[in-house]
Amino acid sequence: MKKILVTGSRGQVGSDLVATLRQQYREIRVVESGRRNFSDTINQEFIYEVLDVTDSKRLSKIIEQYQVDTIYHLAGVLSAKGEQNPQLCWNVNVNGLRNILEAARSYQLKVFCPSSIAVFGANTPKFQTPQVTIESPSTIYGITKVTGELLCQYYADRFGVDVRSLRFPGIISYKTPPGGGTTDFAVEIFYQALQHGHYTCFVRPDTRLPMIYMPDAIAAILQLMEVEPTSITVRSSYNLAAISFSAAELVAEIQKYFPNFTCDYQPDFRQAIADTWPAVIDDAQARQDWGWQHSYDLTAIVTDMLEHLSLKSSEFGVLNSEFVFN
Ligand code: SER
Repeated sequence: MKKILVTGSRGQVGSDLVATLRQQYREIRVVESGRRNFSDTINQEFIYEVLDVTDSKRLSKIIEQYQVDTIYHLAGVLSAKGEQNPQLCWNVNVNGLRNILEAARSYQLKVFCPSSIAVFGANTPKFQTPQVTIESPSTIYGITKVTGELLCQYYADRFGVDVRSLRFPGIISYKTPPGGGTTDFAVEIFYQALQHGHYTCFVRPDTRLPMIYMPDAIAAILQLMEVEPTSITVRSSYNLAAISFSAAELVAEIQKYFPNFTCDYQPDFRQAIADTWPAVIDDAQARQDWGWQHSYDLTAIVTDMLEHLSLKSSEFGVLNSEFVFN
């Protein structure tokens, strides 16, 4: 039986990953964890442990208690929130990851840990950003992710830790909202379109960023974790691409379903972050090494997002009666 610990399990990626793991694998025990206590985890068949990843003793205790063999390490502070609290961002993203890698070394665990397009910076080629290129981030988040990639590479080379990583683009999903990222506009816009028929976007209309739909992101994680170790040639982190679009193109796609939807633009500090990130990523290495390919284009993402969000609209309240999904 696989015994998996997921850190940050109630976050944007964690909540979808846990659901998929439980669906796809019969012989599996998933231990969810996060800093917050959730009342819905009491007296349920699912296991949830309160865990701050900067607490290495508690981490070891949970690993021993559940005989964990694999960790999906998703706890982290994203780019915009990181700028508001750089010390917290460093502590969680770097010291937390180091604790995970140390545990992986001691207990011989397999690890997945996400990196990000935020490792790149203003000096990186913006189009067809290569796997190996200049990494000169301007955000503390990006700095923690470069450090994290180097730590992963080091633990793999020096100690033989089986750690695998992906440089995620912005992730679009409907189950759990993202928290504190620069690419969050591409998720917020759907809720605002449904609730108010209007969105004030915090990046300019011409801001083009790499994005991925959650089912593709989860498929990439699971595919990477299942491939034979000998197929993996990158132990820092793989470039991962799906699609790229501008904020204006996203608005236009939503307007196909919802012609009265309007968007205005009031760029804030997140614009400066987005301006340093790539527009289009070259992920040839991932495609070559483990056969990565995405399924969802912009039209498919918008269709699926609106369909699912309108179904769960009672949770967040659809106020805009003009929206009709066929
Ligand atoms: N989506 C993340 C963010 O915007 C990037 O990895 O911070």
